[in-house]
Amino acid sequence: MISERAKKIGESITLAITANAKKMKKNGEDVVIMASGEPDFDTPEHIKNAGIEAIKSGFTKYTTTSGIDELKNAICEKYKRDLNLVYEPSQVIVTVGGKQALFNLFLSIINPGDEVIVFRPYWVSYLEQIGFAGGVPVLAELSECVENPELLKKYITSKTKAILFNFPSNPSGYVIPEDILEKFTDIAISNDLYIVSDEVYEKFIYDGLAFKSPASFSEKSKEKTIIINALSKTYSMTGWRVGFALGAKDVIKAMGAIQGHQTSNVCSIAQKAGVVALTSSQDCVKNMVEEFAKRRAYMFERLSAIDKVKIDKPMGAFYMFPDVSAFYGGKVKNSFDFCSCLLNEEKVAIIPGIGFGADNHVRLTYSASMEDIKKGMDRFEHFCNRI
Ligand SMILES: Cc1ncc(COP(=O)(O)O)c(C=O)c1O
Repeated sequence: MISERAKKIGESITLAITANAKKMKKNGEDVVIMASGEPDFDTPEHIKNAGIEAIKSGFTKYTTTSGIDELKNAICEKYKRDLNLVYEPSQVIVTVGGKQALFNLFLSIINPGDEVIVFRPYWVSYLEQIGFAGGVPVLAELSECVENPELLKKYITSKTKAILFNFPSNPSGYVIPEDILEKFTDIAISNDLYIVSDEVYEKFIYDGLAFKSPASFSEKSKEKTIIINALSKTYSMTGWRVGFALGAKDVIKAMGAIQGHQTSNVCSIAQKAGVVALTSSQDCVKNMVEEFAKRRAYMFERLSAIDKVKIDKPMGAFYMFPDVSAFYGGKVKNSFDFCSCLLNEEKVAIIPGIGFGADNHVRLTYSASMEDIKKGMDRFEHFCNRI
């Protein structure tokens, strides 16, 4: 008999749709996939070589659960270099992707019934993970709170344990203005909340905007923030499964204790590749982001030109999150119908906004090739003009 806990966990809608579209493609159908959350670039050659070298040199055994010193040092150096934040290796844990960092963090800080404030639209896994840890996700409307940051206070109760930030955002690509982020951070600090800052898209930011972490506002904000990050998106290393968290020593230690009975260390080979990713030239990241900027401009222009599609230009990540609710009525009644019909009739895979708590929207990714994006946008436009 399956446990009540396991039964409550829903399937990731993103992974399910992508898997279905890939299956259709494998069966010979001409499907354009603009659904998955991973760059289409190959992992850079020098990073792959570091993995090969690790295998050849026999670096294939268990490592310390929280990660090899070399990698923890490289992560500390990255934060000093990028954000002028100083961390000690004992404030760092290397995890199996950003997902495990989040999972172990929630298990480490949440007691049954504790509340975590999550902004809507949200990334799908947050709610499942918080719930699994026995917590209660409390959904706050992001647009409303950005307009009037004081409104954030209305979501705080005696049970609130943490607030979660994810900027640039998956699914919307939204990047919060620095002054608003600071106000949210101040509210969190004055209510003694943890700030969970999921920064996996930090490098995917456009038009000269600079990334800001809530940890960098003050010593206090650094103390209360647990940064979640990963090499997955930044270095096109989604399959290598290297993520990490930085924060207060007691939290990181608790996460390590959980991980020690779960996966133990991240794959030793992937850790060695991670060291090279972080310590060598960052040109590969720059080149990828430049290419994404072109695709973003193109996709935004195409979406903006479609009658009845409402879209704000996203400043980060690699997603567009247009409002397509003007098409709801006949056979398309919601974002799920919109995406099913688009997939069945036009062979374009995108993700319904309902999975992110925003049924008026759909999520398209421009982490597909330009050729695919062009083809996908032609079909998307054709679909919108027809329904
Ligand atoms: C917002 C967000 N956080 C975390 C992750 C997890 O990334 P990883 O693949 O490193 O587990 C993702 C991946 O899609 C994401 O979109």
